[in-house]
Amino acid sequence: MKRELAAGYELDDDPTRVDLDVVCRFLGEEAYWSKGRSRELIEKTFHGASRVVGLFAPDGSTVGYCRAHSDEVVFAYLCDVFVLEEHRGRGLGKELVREMVDGSPLRELRWLLGTADAHEMYRELGFRKPSFRIMERPGPKFADDPPSE
Ligand SMILES: CC(C)(COP(=O)(O)OP(=O)(O)OC[C@H]1O[C@@H](n2cnc3c(N)ncnc32)[C@H](O)[C@@H]1OP(=O)(O)O)[C@@H](O)C(=O)NCCC(=O)NCCS
Repeated sequence: MKRELAAGYELDDDPTRVDLDVVCRFLGEEAYWSKGRSRELIEKTFHGASRVVGLFAPDGSTVGYCRAHSDEVVFAYLCDVFVLEEHRGRGLGKELVREMVDGSPLRELRWLLGTADAHEMYRELGFRKPSFRIMERPGPKFADDPPSE
């Protein structure tokens, strides 16, 4: 799947087009939730994803990314959503997530995600507060987790 956006940007779920240098640099050095994650582990999450979607600038360079993991029957988990800073604020992040969720064969499943501050963007795409049925068992710490007591 390829989808053209305004101003020559493009979305594509072909993993071979994604520049892993860009993904590993942003996730390993900048993202608040994954800063410090090694390239090896970031590549492992990339290769293990059910679907990745890349955002590409008019010159073909990778400027955004997200991945989803799913059992393809019940649930899908969205993570590592980003758009490089110089390309933000023009609707690309929303289209990236829209493509992942609504443009996907997984669109009818229960989608889950975590975010520190982008709730409004996800709300506009159909996400809402989890119901009382959802629980979380803490796993590996996120880079921005407070120190444990
Ligand atoms: C979050 C992110 C992907 C949004 O990308 P973007 O291209 O700037 O987003 P859009 O231009 O499509 O904006 C979508 C809407 O969400 C809002 N929004 C985007 N990021 C937001 C944030 N961090 N906090 C609050 N609101 C945010 C925008 O104001 C916009 O609202 P509008 O539709 O009313 O104008 C981008 O800011 C980013 O990569 N941030 C750093 C990594 C990150 O925080 N990723 C999300 C992890 S859950």
